[in-house]
Amino acid sequence: MSRASLMSDPSSTDSPTEDEISACAEQTRRTVLLGALAATACLGCSVHAHADEDPPGSDERPRKGDVLVFSEGDKEGKLITAADLPVGGPPVHAWPKDPKTSVVRSASRLNEILIIRLDPAELDDKTRERAVDGIIAYSAICAHAGCPVTAWVKSDVGDKEVFKCMCHNSEYDPRAGAQVVFGPAPRRLAALPLALDDGSLSVAGNFIGKVGGA
Ligand code: FES
Repeated sequence: MSRASLMSDPSSTDSPTEDEISACAEQTRRTVLLGALAATACLGCSVHAHADEDPPGSDERPRKGDVLVFSEGDKEGKLITAADLPVGGPPVHAWPKDPKTSVVRSASRLNEILIIRLDPAELDDKTRERAVDGIIAYSAICAHAGCPVTAWVKSDVGDKEVFKCMCHNSEYDPRAGAQVVFGPAPRRLAALPLALDDGSLSVAGNFIGKVGGA
């Protein structure tokens, strides 16, 4: 008998055996332990990624005028332009970079950004106002316990693709200001205003909303 059926049928006379109760308790203990380990791992690396050799400015939040560079993959460190962003995703992972000093602001993992280009007709009014040619940017750090948001997958609760944090399955819809559509995250991802000039992307202002886990 499952744990759910035990709880939902109080009139049942089919009492669980000691083995069943003990298996259920063990499963719960493992789930709690795995969740605690995942959260601890996130917190342990949550402030500085490269604390020993950080150049000045590398842990400061994105600023107006910063350009954006790939944070991973073959093009890591290269400038991101509108041409790098196919309509409909997937998102690109980025760091802000000070164009005057060439310092990449990668010393704080809270600075990692998701940039995605979507059909402007799919965006809600507020998100469309902030978008440039359908391009929008959000913090890549989950609002639940601060894991990185890494997946772009079909939602568990709809037929559209969404940002997903694989730590505890929170999902965010970038078409609607990255509001939470599934999972335990208590709030949306912070948004980062962008500007587009001749195909080049830059930061147009500070993060809107809180960055990082609860
Ligand atoms: S850290 Fe828990 S869902 Fe992302």
